[in-house]
Order: sequence, then C-alpha cells, then structure tokens
Amino acid sequence: MAKQIICENAALGYEDGIVTEGLNFTVSSGDYLCILGENGSGKSTLIKALLGLKPQVSGKIEWCEGFKATEIGYLPQQTPVQRDFPASVREIVQSGCLSKTGFRPFYNKEEKKLAESTMKQLGITELAGRCYRDLSGGQQQRVLLARALCATRKMLLLDEPVTGLDPRAQTDLYDLIASLNKEGITIIMVSHDLAAALKYASHILHIGKKQLFFGTKEEYMNSKTGRSFIDAEVKDND
Ligand SMILES: Nc1ncnc2c1ncn2[C@@H]1O[C@H](COP(=O)(O)OP(=O)(O)OP(=O)(O)O)[C@@H](O)[C@H]1O
Ligand SMILES: [Mg+2]
Repeated sequence: MAKQIICENAALGYEDGIVTEGLNFTVSSGDYLCILGENGSGKSTLIKALLGLKPQVSGKIEWCEGFKATEIGYLPQQTPVQRDFPASVREIVQSGCLSKTGFRPFYNKEEKKLAESTMKQLGITELAGRCYRDLSGGQQQRVLLARALCATRKMLLLDEPVTGLDPRAQTDLYDLIASLNKEGITIIMVSHDLAAALKYASHILHIGKKQLFFGTKEEYMNSKTGRSFIDAEVKDND
C-alpha cells in the first residue's frame, strides 16, 4: 500500500521541554493506526504535529503523495467548552468544507450536497436543524465525524472519539469508523481503550517516557511493551 506518512526520529515538545522523542513510524493508505499512551505522554501533541499545527523539535515528519494537512479530516479531543458550541448541526458539518472554500465566503452547491450526503451516511439527517449543544455526547461525536468526513475521504485523525460515550454508543461509533476504514479511509486514532485498539486497529503506536513501540497489532501483542500494558489493564479490571 502507498505510504502516506513517514516519521523518523521525531521529537515533540513545547517551550518548556521535550514531551516525547525517538518517534519512528509509517502510515500507509488504508491503515488503522491506534496511538496509545498514558495521560500527558504526547498523543494530542503528535496529532497536532501531523496536522502541521505544531512543528517537531527535531527529526522528520514527511507527508507522501503530495498530501496536504488540509486534506485530513480531524476530530479534536473534546473539552466542555466545545461541547457547548451554539451552532446548528448542519452548520457544523458544513464547516468541514471550509478548507475547500478558500476565501469564498459561502458554501457552493456541491459542498452543501456533500454535507447532506455525509449526514445521511452517518444517520444524523434528522438532527440537521438542531442546536449542537443540545445533543447527546454520542450524537455530538457523530456530527464531528461527519464534519471531518466533509474535509476528506482519504484520512481521518481522531483524538479520543469515544470518550464519555456509553458502551452502546462507543460500539456504534467504533463500528462506523471501522466501516469507513473498510471503504479505504486511513484512520489514525488516539485512544485509551486498549480492548478496542486490539480489536479494530491494524497498527499500534505506543508512546511514553519509558515505552515506545510501533508495529502491527500482532507484533504489539507479542512485544514487551504490549504485554506489560495488556497485563496491567487486565489487573485493573479484576
Ligand atoms: N500548548 C501547550 N504548551 C505547553 N505544554 C503543553 C501544551 N499542550 C500540552 N502540553 C504538555 O505536553 C504534554 C503532552 O500533552 P498532550 O496533550 O499531548 O498529552 P496526551 O497524551 O494527549 O494526554 P491525554 O491522554 O490526557 O489527552 C503534557 O505534559 C502537557 O501538559
Ligand atoms: Mg490528548
């Protein structure tokens, strides 16, 4: 499969220091990469670096195939303020087309059509006129996924998309994401849900101060990092 991202020995951080370093991984078309790691390990920072919002401190993050950051659909990690956003569902989904409009101050017919068909695909057409902040957490995540899909059919970057959802809504969203991946859309997902990562992902990137791993899911399950993380999780759930 065609390579889309090559990351070589990248270090990421802010003014006050390095957050994570020694990152080596590749993403190919159709991959489903799960990024695991404890709170503060730098997962969201890596997503921002991939989007070009935060340059790496050193090393290389290269986009292949003439990919542009604007061709990526991005679902950010949610904060309570964002959950309270006072716009309609349709407005939010359409805003996914903004990278296509350039300086044009309105959406054209095609973009409006894309927003409607994406809402239909994700089963949220009947919510189109509702205010985003009045929706349930699961409905809100679907809206944000529809928004991300309006930006691209190539790659989705999802930062903890199922956080705060009940188990049923989590499964629904995971299944939806898996079906988009089957259509050929590359998925890069930050997650704390190890069980789901092991079920759905093709590749795992585990970042942290002490552990660093990149490989296929099967390689991860047989690795020292993977084994210790899986064992700790099993103990926590006992
Ligand atoms: N804008 C910023 N300026 C300075 N430091 C930051 C900034 N954003 C994040 N950090 C710090 O960088 C580190 C990594 O943060 P990041 O948000 O990438 O972690 P994460 O792995 O996504 O964590 P979580 O699982 O809690 O979402 C943390 O120590 C955080 O405090
Ligand atoms: Mg984060």
